[in-house]
Amino acid sequence: MLGAPAINTRITALLKCRYPLVLPGMSWISTPELVAAVSNAGGVGILATGPLNATQTRESIRRVRSLTDKPFGIGATLLMPGARENAVVALEEEVPLINVSLGKAEWIAEGLQAYGGTLLSTVTNAKHAEAAIQAGADALMVTGHEAAAHGGDVTSLVLVPSLAAHFPETPIVAAGGFANGRGLAGALVLGADAIAMGSRFAVTKDSPLAQATKEAIVDAGESETIYGKNFDGIPARVLRTTASQKVMARRPFLATIVFRAFQAAQKLGMPIWKVLPGLLTQWDKMFIVAQFGAATEAITKATVDGNVAEGVQFIGQSAGMINDIPSVDDLVQRIMEEARHVSTEKACLFEELDFVSNRVA
Ligand SMILES: Cc1cc2nc3c(=O)[nH]c(=O)nc-3n(C[C@H](O)[C@H](O)[C@H](O)COP(=O)(O)O)c2cc1C
Repeated sequence: MLGAPAINTRITALLKCRYPLVLPGMSWISTPELVAAVSNAGGVGILATGPLNATQTRESIRRVRSLTDKPFGIGATLLMPGARENAVVALEEEVPLINVSLGKAEWIAEGLQAYGGTLLSTVTNAKHAEAAIQAGADALMVTGHEAAAHGGDVTSLVLVPSLAAHFPETPIVAAGGFANGRGLAGALVLGADAIAMGSRFAVTKDSPLAQATKEAIVDAGESETIYGKNFDGIPARVLRTTASQKVMARRPFLATIVFRAFQAAQKLGMPIWKVLPGLLTQWDKMFIVAQFGAATEAITKATVDGNVAEGVQFIGQSAGMINDIPSVDDLVQRIMEEARHVSTEKACLFEELDFVSNRVA
């Protein structure tokens, strides 16, 4: 169903999609099925490759292509073991969009240029944005403090217009705190060219997120998240539960982190000999990478098993605006209609003002 009129922004032109709505890569959630559902609904889905090895990434890309002929992307958190190999596969498969974070991406930009693909770099401040543009980013995913998982220090309300003013030539996808048509309209006014919605798309009928977890998010308000760096090493926002409060309260011992990280790598089918060289060559970042790996057990408990009480669930402040579990199709149509409605309503306010001031004059 593609009822709402298409809109034209720099992002819809760049990514060749109907609506300026992006599904970001979310481990265990942005699967080929959800990616294709969002792309088929007129947005752009980004496949999460965090839990995948190179073979699985190739299979997943091909699975997306069997479900949609629309544009889509893959995500690569370059700091993590295996991410580089997954990005190589995406280039070989000529995936139209690659979304990178936490790493040097010049070689990916070059690879994409060879077939006309797009590099979308996730950033949380002006310094990172500058570096990403220097490295060849075609567009920025600007992620505010409200976001699920790894948003920055500054809220979207300030970060988006600030970076839009700093980098007027670069299209922006605003992420963090967007979940409805008002948010889309607001983001466009702030200077964005599209929005990415993680929390909102995660709570749809098409999403593989566990049903009990979807329901817990529907019940949660905007204040029921916590933000801290003790969970996976990078400041992250998660659903506030007894378990997550405990996890965030203090940093675990290094030995526990390393042990859990290797356990997680093994579960993902990554042999230690493959993980170790990456860790040793990035010694300064080793602690973060290990803590990231160590967090996977708690994440999958909530995300895959639906055990919100014992697991830890990434979720944004937009949980307070998520009150139902619609299909991706219905959600996309609702958002586009609402954005059009509120934009027209607000434009009328200015027309009325012109009318009044003309009469006074
Ligand atoms: C359930 C869930 C899982 C996520 N997993 C990841 C992840 O694995 N890697 C990542 O870079 N971001 C992850 N994110 C963050 C999103 O990519 C995105 O930045 C964020 O959802 C945007 O903010 P929003 O939730 O307010 O829409 C996740 C978000 C959610 C809601």
